[in-house]
Amino acid sequence: MARRVIRGHLITLRPLRLSDAGVLDPVLRDLRATRFLRPWVRYETGREFIVRVLRDQRKGHSVAFAIVPTGSTKAIGQIRLFHWSRSNDVAEVGFWLRRKYWGRGFGTEALRLICQYGFRTMSLHRIEAVVIEGNVGSRRALKKVGFRDEGRSRQAHRLAGRWVNEWRLGLLRGEMPRSAPPKPGQLPGTQPSSGS
Ligand SMILES: CC(C)(COP(=O)(O)OP(=O)(O)OC[C@H]1O[C@@H](n2cnc3c(N)ncnc32)[C@H](O)[C@@H]1OP(=O)(O)O)[C@@H](O)C(=O)NCCC(=O)NCCS
Repeated sequence: MARRVIRGHLITLRPLRLSDAGVLDPVLRDLRATRFLRPWVRYETGREFIVRVLRDQRKGHSVAFAIVPTGSTKAIGQIRLFHWSRSNDVAEVGFWLRRKYWGRGFGTEALRLICQYGFRTMSLHRIEAVVIEGNVGSRRALKKVGFRDEGRSRQAHRLAGRWVNEWRLGLLRGEMPRSAPPKPGQLPGTQPSSGS
């Protein structure tokens, strides 16, 4: 699994590999990036994270991709489908990227591509997302791809000694909207229009 390379407009998804560890390390040391991640991820190095994720993938419980901007060869983050229940055809999506790449549409496109892969190649019926309350960027990206709010679990995580709620979202097969083309400034080599 996850042997495929999936090409989008802004980014390519390719299989995550151990050599990506050095690239993922800075994300896991960036408190602004990790404050909305599950507690155990926050204490891992890039290498520990990838070793765990690839072990999980070998057991058939997940598929993991590196996110690589178009025109580059270097990963800027990761996205994966995990907690894959083959009896239910359900999996959960998780993703993060280096802070300097946020807000350029990469996360949304990565989500769209992996969800298409999940429905078409893994024959999933449903993809779930768990988002720590307050993570508006993640929720917005999920909603743009068609995820719907399904509820809120109260005090589901203890972060820095404080209980926080989580939003739960879900996407069913057939619910993805047709993909909107990227905004002009998001396409590689283009600048946003000045309007003149
Ligand atoms: C969540 C994450 C992957 C999103 O990736 P991204 O590439 O920045 O997302 P996009 O650029 O595709 O943005 C998606 C939408 O969210 C909005 N958005 C992004 N960050 C935002 C923020 N902090 N506040 C408000 N809106 C935000 C964008 O404006 C965009 O909406 P728009 O097209 O209507 O303008 C990235 O912010 C990240 O790595 N965060 C840290 C880790 C994390 O929280 N992972 C998710 C765990 S559930």
